[in-house]
Formats: sequence, C-alpha cells, structure tokens
Amino acid sequence: MRIAMIGTGYVGLVSGACLSEFGHSVVCVDKEADKVAALKAGTIPIYEPRLDEVVATNTKAGRLTFETDIAKAVRGADAVFIAVGTPSRRGDGHADLTYVHAAAEEIARALTGYAVVVTKSTVPVGTSREVEKIIRKLRPDLEFDMASNPEFLREGSAIDDFRRPDRVVVGCDTERAREIMREVYRPLYLHETPILFTSRESSELIKYAANAFLATKITFINEMADICEKVGADVQDVSRGIGLDGRIGGKFLHAGPGFGGSCFPKDTLALRKTAQDLGTPTRIVEAVVSVNDSRKLAMAEKIERAFGGVNGKTIAVLGLTFKPNTDDMRDAPSLVIVPFLQRKGATIRAFDPEGVKEARKLMNVELCRDAYEALDGSDGVVILTEWNEFRALDMARMKALLKTPLMIDLRNIYRPNQMAQAGFTYVSVGRATAAPSR
Ligand code: UDX
Repeated sequence: MRIAMIGTGYVGLVSGACLSEFGHSVVCVDKEADKVAALKAGTIPIYEPRLDEVVATNTKAGRLTFETDIAKAVRGADAVFIAVGTPSRRGDGHADLTYVHAAAEEIARALTGYAVVVTKSTVPVGTSREVEKIIRKLRPDLEFDMASNPEFLREGSAIDDFRRPDRVVVGCDTERAREIMREVYRPLYLHETPILFTSRESSELIKYAANAFLATKITFINEMADICEKVGADVQDVSRGIGLDGRIGGKFLHAGPGFGGSCFPKDTLALRKTAQDLGTPTRIVEAVVSVNDSRKLAMAEKIERAFGGVNGKTIAVLGLTFKPNTDDMRDAPSLVIVPFLQRKGATIRAFDPEGVKEARKLMNVELCRDAYEALDGSDGVVILTEWNEFRALDMARMKALLKTPLMIDLRNIYRPNQMAQAGFTYVSVGRATAAPSR
C-alpha cells in the first residue's frame, strides 16, 4: 500500500512512521524544508518516547521517506492522509481550516489516478464533504473517494496508542474506500482491534465527542475535589469509588490543575462553536470550557494562600509541560500559574525534564538543571506536572535544601501522611492539608 501523509506535526509524523512500520510505503510531506531536511537526517522535531527509533528503523528499511513536494508524494498513492494543523481561530475558537483547504487543493492538482483522500486532522463535522467539493471543483475528471479517520493518540504514549488503539474509526461512503482503509489497518486485526466503519459525519463527530467527554470527566472530578476540600473527603477515594462502577470507569478521573495540551482546549472550543452555530448549544461543554479556564487561576491562588502570600518569596516549580513525557507546553497550567505568582512578587526557580527549551520561549524564569537545584534556597516547592522523576524525591535532601518544608502538589503524587511524617506541610488537590508530624 502506498501512502502519502501531508503534514509532519504530532499526528502526521507518528501516524506516518507507525504506518510504515505496518509495512506500507509512506511518504511524509511538509512544506518546511528545514524540518524535512532534519527528518531525513534522523532529527525528530518533537519529544515523543521511541518515535526516533521507529523513524530510524523504517527510514533505513526504505519504507519511510520525507518530501517537501506534495505532488511527488501523492502521485501513485493509494491513500492520501491530510494531517495538517487545525488551530483555534482567533476570537471564536472555530477550527481554522486554512491549511486543510490548501492541502486539498494541492492534492487535487497532483493526483494522477484513483486514491482515497483521508482527513486525519481533527476537523469539524462536514469538513470531509467540503474537501471533496474543493477537489471535485478543481478536478471534475478525477476518480477518488473521501474518508474521515480521526486519530486518538496521546502525547507521551503516541507510539503505543497507534500500535494498539482501543479502536479505529473510519467514515466513508463507498466499498472501494472501505477496502483500502481496511488494508491500511490490516495489521491491527491481529490484535482484534475494533474497526468502526461509519458515515463521515459520525466519524468527525466521534473525535470531538470523545475529547469533550474526557475533558468533562476531568472537569467533573476537579469540581468534586473542591467539594472534598470543604467537607474533609479524599478525592482519590471518591475517584476510585465511582471509577469501580463499570459504567463510569476509573480513567481520566485524576483531579489536578485543569487540562491543557494541543487537543482538549482546542477541541472543546471548536465543538462549542459548532454547536452554537447549529443552534444546538452544548451547555455541558460550555461549562467545561469555562470551569477549566478558571481552574488554572484558582490553582495559582491556592498556591498563594499556601505560602501566606508570595511577595518576596522564591518558589521552586517542578514540571512546566501540560503533562509528562512531552516537551509540549500548549495550554499548560504553568503558563497561567507561573506569571500569576511572578505578578504577585515571587521569584520562580523551575525545572522540567523535557520542557526547558519551550519554556525558555514562553516564560521568564530561572530554569534549573534538576529538581534539587530548583529547590535550593526556595521557600517552598510546587509540583505542576507528574513526571516520573518527581515521584520519589529524596525527602531529607529536599528538606535540607528548602528554607521552609512546604510542598504544594497539584498532581497528588505523594500521600499526605507520608509527607507529614517527612516533616512537610503538604497541600494537595481534593485532600486535607497535612501538617508536619515531626
Ligand atoms: C488527548 C486525548 O487523550 C487523545 O485521545 C487525543 O487524540 C488528543 O488529546 P493528550 O492531549 O496527549 O491526548 O493528553 P491526555 O493524556 O489526554 O491529557 C490531557 C490533559 O488532561 C492533560 O493536561 C492532563 O494533565 C489532563 N488530565 C488527564 C487530568 O488532569 N486528569 C486526568 O485524569 C487525565
């Protein structure tokens, strides 16, 4: 099977590399010549565990190549995937389809024979039909089919998610397109991955509905955490207690500083806008967007309260990325929390295992080489991202380095009684504050 993947962002690069690992011949296209040159030389533009190995192995085997010219990649392809960016449009949050439309035009001009054109980027309902119109208008002669095939991979575990997805969703209208898409994902039949064939509209909506539902779960448990703090309950017990109900499920019920990243914030905004435009507003999603927005600020205020005011204090911040195992800072809670603390007069000494390069562009803080360097001489420590290396910090060493043994853990990675025994004042989310017991 010959595949062209247009766009080498997160989704495009991971999907292209993993599809080549399935044995297909994949050409990944990007307009940025520097990026393509770097990829050809084996340099991966993002931090994603094991992506470099998958790219290297398949490039070496000749199944994966990189190209700046769409026409070259598309000629002779059985399936052409559009995986370009769909950022939030400034102002109204609608998904900006400029890149998708531009890719469609270029694909139309370049196709030489039948192919399935697949939207892989997260696109609003109806986009696949719009793209079809664009191509048909430019090339009325051309035989092609359109499909929608949303991607559900998570940053930080993208390779595993692609290799073993919970399901694959394909929206298309013809048997010919279905046959090609079945062939693209044939290796997954070995693991008995469910492949759901549906209409293009359903497929497009499934992606938004999935992300909005998960964002709702997180927002719901965050609100429960606030109640827990007021009544002396423990949000982790509440999560477990409700999550064991098979109808609810235990995943995505970790209370924290609010969701961030490249998908949930953008996709909830886009769904809200689509629903409003259709005259069927989604009040739940509207609430999720606004509750999550205010949560980041509420967490900054929680930190301020824990310190008894932050003016003139030095605060160690551990973790800046929106989640662990990525260098992505898009919509990270740190982007609201750190500037708030600085405005209130705090000095920030931060450390992140992979996010330092991005953080340097986005905030003006002292970036340290490791967690202990950030702690040295600080008045307290705040955990913003649950990187594994923060899960077993040396308590005695931390206590010796900090001016005051104060920890604010917005990811609940430690246990209150364990922290109290280690001599810390420990503030977490949805659990009682622990005072040092020695
Ligand atoms: C998400 C979806 O999971 C994925 O299917 C989709 O393709 C893209 O968007 P991603 O953004 O990579 O993936 O990260 P995810 O692990 O889903 O976390 C998103 C945000 O929610 C992070 O900020 C994370 O910290 C937060 N989160 C997640 C919680 O606060 N609590 C949870 O229980 C789970």
